[in-house]
Formats: sequence, structure tokens, C-alpha cells
Amino acid sequence: MGHSLTIERTLKKKSKPPENQLGFGIHYTDHMFIMDYTVENGWHQPRIIPYQPISLDPAAKVFHYGQTIFEGLKAYRTADERVLLFRPDQNFKRMNRSNARLSIPQIDEEFAIEALRQLIQVDQDWIPTSAGTSLYIRPFVISTEAYLGVAPSKSYQFIIIMSPVGPYYAEGVNPVKIFVESEYVRAVNGGIGEAKTGGNYAASLKAQEGANEKGYSQVLWLDGVHRKYIEEVGSMNVFFKINGEVHTPALNGSILDGITRKSIIQMLKHWNIPVVERTISIEELYDYHAKGQLEEAFGTGTAAVISPIGELNWRENKILLNQGQTGELSAKLYDTLTGIQNGLMADPFGWMVEG
Ligand code: COI
Repeated sequence: MGHSLTIERTLKKKSKPPENQLGFGIHYTDHMFIMDYTVENGWHQPRIIPYQPISLDPAAKVFHYGQTIFEGLKAYRTADERVLLFRPDQNFKRMNRSNARLSIPQIDEEFAIEALRQLIQVDQDWIPTSAGTSLYIRPFVISTEAYLGVAPSKSYQFIIIMSPVGPYYAEGVNPVKIFVESEYVRAVNGGIGEAKTGGNYAASLKAQEGANEKGYSQVLWLDGVHRKYIEEVGSMNVFFKINGEVHTPALNGSILDGITRKSIIQMLKHWNIPVVERTISIEELYDYHAKGQLEEAFGTGTAAVISPIGELNWRENKILLNQGQTGELSAKLYDTLTGIQNGLMADPFGWMVEG
């Protein structure tokens, strides 16, 4: 891999949006990172350049066969002007696991983090500082070979773009209504559910649209074989507080290995709250609710961090969780994790690294 990173600074800096109007993934910083792969040269020509459109042959494989992966992570600027990244090593490790699943060549993880640090350094003025804001970082790989044969591409681009973001939900951390999806599935064991790749998100849209039409924000995904076991919620991992214990679906090959998921598990254990990773059926969940033992439910992900679930609808059987309110544990997890991330709270886990 050619490691000599070049930097070309923009001559025309963009004006920055007001921090109270950021939204999610709408605005992009002044620069981007890009690196090419060819069979002959491997990964080469890493460069930071002004943010700009990319030009691809219409036959490029990414458009036809979806050979692509992405990551999502965040950087924060602390009150004392330091830049912090949340567990970037975990994202780049997962990126290579996704690469392996999609037959995309591996990328030097340490080099990727170093390139990201330099990109953040160039665009550091873009890191917002108001409560709930951060710089969302989107690394991704696309297959660029112009060849319609179904085979791994012989050329790729690895790109990092960055977007200043506000809280994922404009209304703040509020419980969402969830429709339990019994027709469509997101992924099956042996498929690509474990990889962070566009196809999983494309596969989710139809069900999400259906849920939205019925007045629900997202769907709860059940397994693809039995339509019985809980997998994820929307594009997030899912947790349930049952009788004082926290339960989450075990990673089974079709569930994404979320970095927020693993951090929440670690945090709960640190607080001596029992956490169980196991197979959880939807019937069982409804039984716990009927017995008054289903105390809270929430999704976890990089974008929203914690998203409490206020209502579930499974085959027109509607249940309220925690009276439809944000649970105490969900709120504490959100406050603590975001507190650590933006440098306001101590980080006993060693998750935050300097940008
Ligand atoms: C996340 O929760 O960060 C996600 O994976 C959703 C993202 C694709 C916007």
C-alpha cells in the first residue's frame, strides 16, 4: 500500500450551517479522503482533496451488483478544544470483516485511522460543539471496475466523507412506535446481515415504508427462517430490560455486530446489571409483558445512540412499554454514553481516543 498521503486544500471553503439546523447526513465538510485499489498496485495514492463528486463508468460494478461496504462513526470536540473519536479501531476492524464478506480487499486499519485523523485535522472547524451534535464520519468502499460479469471487481475506491450532525431525532430522545415485521426479513444466517453493506439497508426500505404508512417509525425484524426470533430494530441493535436483567439477541450471523451494542453491554456489566445475549422470541417477549416483567426496550446505534421503544405492534396486538415513556435505564445509558463521547464524563473504558 502506498502510504504517502497527499493533501490538496480547497480554495473555496463552504459556509457552515447553523448548529441548530444540522439534521443528519445533510451537510458535508470541505474535504474528503480517497484511495484507489488496482490488482497491479494494491491500495495506492491516498489523498485528501476538496469535497467533490466522483466520476465512475456506468458499468461500474457497484451500480449493478452492490459490491460495497460502509462504516459510521463520530468525532466530538470537547469543551477544552480536544478532538475525540469513539472506538475508531472497532469500526475499521468491522470494515475489514465486511470487506472480507463482500470479497473486497483488506485495508490497513492503522493507516485508515491515521488518514481519518489527518482528514479531521484539515476539517476540524466543522466539528460542531452544541449539545447532541457531532461530526459523523462515513468511510465506504465501492467497486469501480466497468465489467458486468458477476465476479469480484478488480478495482475499488475507499472514500471517507464527513457530515456535521445534530441529534438523530430532531424531537430529542423520545420513545418510538415499532411495528413487528412478519412478512419481510432483513437478513438470514449465511447471507450478508452481519456485514455493513448497502444491500441490507436496501432490503429494509419496503418494510420501513409499510411501517411508516401505518404510523410506526421503524420495524422490529424477526429471523428469516421462523419469523419468530428477534434480530434488530430498524437499523439498530435491540435490547430489552426484563425483570431487572437486560437481554439482547445473541450475534447469530445475521445480526450486525454493533459498536454501540458492545459498548452498552460493557457499560451494563460495569454497573453490575446482568446482561444476557441469547435467542429471544417475540412470543416470549409478549409473555413477559403480560406478566408485567418487560420493563424497557431500546435500540442502539451510532447515529441515534439510544432510541427507546414506547410501543410494539405484533399482528395488531399492541403493547406499551414503560407506559410509552423513556425508561430510567434507557435515559441513564444515553446520558452516560453521550457524556463519555463528548468528553463531559470520565471514560473508565478507554473508548475515547484523541483525533
Ligand atoms: C446507525 O445506527 O448508526 C446506523 O447504522 C444507521 C445509519 C445507517 C444511519
